[in-house]
Amino acid sequence: MERTCCCGELRASDAGKSVRLVGWIRARRDHGGLFFLDLGDRTGIVQLLIDVQRRPKLESLSVLRCESVIEVEGVLRLRPEETANAKLATGEVEVAVDWAIVHSSADPLPFALDDGTAEKVNEEMRFTYRYLDLRRPKCYGRLLRRHKIAAAARNYLNENDFLEIELPTLFKTTPEGAREFLVPSRTNRGQFYALAQSPQQYKQMLMVAGVERYYSLARCFRDEDLRADRQPEFTQIDLEMSFIDREDIHALIEGLMARIWKKVLDRELPLPLPRMSFQDTMDRYGSDKPDRRFPMELVDVSSVFSGSSFAVFAEPIAAGGVVKALNGNGLAHLSQGEMRVLEDGASAMGAKGLAYIKLEDGQWKSPIGKFLTEEMRTALREALSAKEGDLILFSAGPWEKACAILGRVRLDCAALQKEKGLLSLSDDLFDLLWVVDFPLLTYDEGQSRYVATHHPFTAPIEEDRPLLHSAPERVRGQHYDLVMNGVELGGGSIRIHSSELQKDIFENLLKIPAEAVERLFGYMVRAFRYGAPPHGGIALGLDRLAAMLCGTNSIRDVIAFPKTQKGMDLMVQSPSSATEKQLRELAIALH
Ligand code: AMO
Ligand code: AMP
Repeated sequence: MERTCCCGELRASDAGKSVRLVGWIRARRDHGGLFFLDLGDRTGIVQLLIDVQRRPKLESLSVLRCESVIEVEGVLRLRPEETANAKLATGEVEVAVDWAIVHSSADPLPFALDDGTAEKVNEEMRFTYRYLDLRRPKCYGRLLRRHKIAAAARNYLNENDFLEIELPTLFKTTPEGAREFLVPSRTNRGQFYALAQSPQQYKQMLMVAGVERYYSLARCFRDEDLRADRQPEFTQIDLEMSFIDREDIHALIEGLMARIWKKVLDRELPLPLPRMSFQDTMDRYGSDKPDRRFPMELVDVSSVFSGSSFAVFAEPIAAGGVVKALNGNGLAHLSQGEMRVLEDGASAMGAKGLAYIKLEDGQWKSPIGKFLTEEMRTALREALSAKEGDLILFSAGPWEKACAILGRVRLDCAALQKEKGLLSLSDDLFDLLWVVDFPLLTYDEGQSRYVATHHPFTAPIEEDRPLLHSAPERVRGQHYDLVMNGVELGGGSIRIHSSELQKDIFENLLKIPAEAVERLFGYMVRAFRYGAPPHGGIALGLDRLAAMLCGTNSIRDVIAFPKTQKGMDLMVQSPSSATEKQLRELAIALH
């Protein structure tokens, strides 16, 4: 099958040439004895002119349904001027067909493949027939863009002396991190692999092995509850380097992002990227992945309420906490239902209430109005630049919790502002930054112990090391996140490479019993005793990056065959049951 070119490539300058094309019939228009077909492939469409009077054999094409696959030969000619289609790249030409064969005649489609129709069809339907969905140029365009990102990343890392090395997918179960997918071993009855959540430990072992610069486009598996930006299997641009510090990783990744911006968007990315400490971003945006495209910031108004008669606020302050406030500009007129959206968001983050003030009709309408003296009102007005029409929201409690609650409310306010036309964000606005200086450990109330904020292999910041045992909560980790438009694009850290420190963190801070440390991580602690280089790395979520650069907020749009919310692949109907024989071989009994 030797086509002379692709459908979307034909131009007026090619007029007069004989062409041979293959593709799918995208549309048909009949004109009695004469009909037109749009023939399409991944490059676009071109109009075919079928003159049955001249070529009676071509009559057979008239019964074909859309999406049938044909091959044609003919002569490219200019369309009569008044019939040219300026909206189409090939709109000035058409192919007068002399010969055709049908490779595959299509059944009626489950849904029409124009974007307007396909995007209204429910996702279950689109995923069941994903091969049809993907045939839409828009979907193909997203796969193409993802490919370009991956290719740019590979080229950039290759140029920077990295080795692409595949690491095992069948790993072992470890307690830290997300829930894993277990894989029963047939050859070791009763034992299990776990699918790798990331190649973290293997890539560190490559550093101990002296590889110095590793990368891979790694498939990762996490049995998490799925959301728009989470899939059970996803891809990381994963890398690790030896003899470097945090700044080296930042510079490398900034170069990578700039390369991707150039190759994929044809835009310059201003460098260096800004850095914010965890403390600062929580304080101002109430999130460790701040969306700074809109300026709304949290303000500490503890001084306004400390010692006030309003116990709901005064007590948390007395207990060492804070009162944070946020000005939802222009939202004084929210309906009760809209206020409930904000309250529900706050309570989902653990808030006991969401005090507010509406600056409406020249009045301060608020459930806490009776506690607000004239002096307090002046102070609040100044601190929040509050004016008629604004909605002020409060969160009182321990610092991090109060910030996080209002951080959520901030995002919900922005969504409402967008709905009401008070805020507009253009699709090509990208705000990238580094968040650094995270606490090394986070106290987990449920488990009554510290857990690693990033992962247990992250090194503490050197100057905080003396606090490791006396005030572990104050130790910062050498961990960094790359954040874009409120989404965590990537995360990494400088690692521990001392056997003693790694063991100390496992046993004395994370409180993993020595026996379990030996069983789970013994090999690693041992490896560090045979000469381990200082090392660190990062992993970027390729799916999230691709989604954002495609202007969609669902990573499902940039994954060829994604899973549904319930983790199912509807096209192949997976997961599915196993036979008795399979289960017996694996020594598995179902209850
Ligand atoms: P982390 O767990 O932060 O780090 O993951 C890195 C990045 O992977 C993406 N990501 C996901 N994307 C889609 N679906 C998911 N379920 C999902 N989970 C994570 C995010 C995230 O920022 N080994 C460490 C990295 C390191 O320290 O080098 C790691 O995996 O974009
Ligand atoms: P109460 O006196 O308990 O009715 O609370 C008065 C107002 O404060 C109500 O609007 C509550 O929703 C709100 N509120 C209660 N606790 C908090 C808190 N920790 N932070 C912010 N607002 C709160």
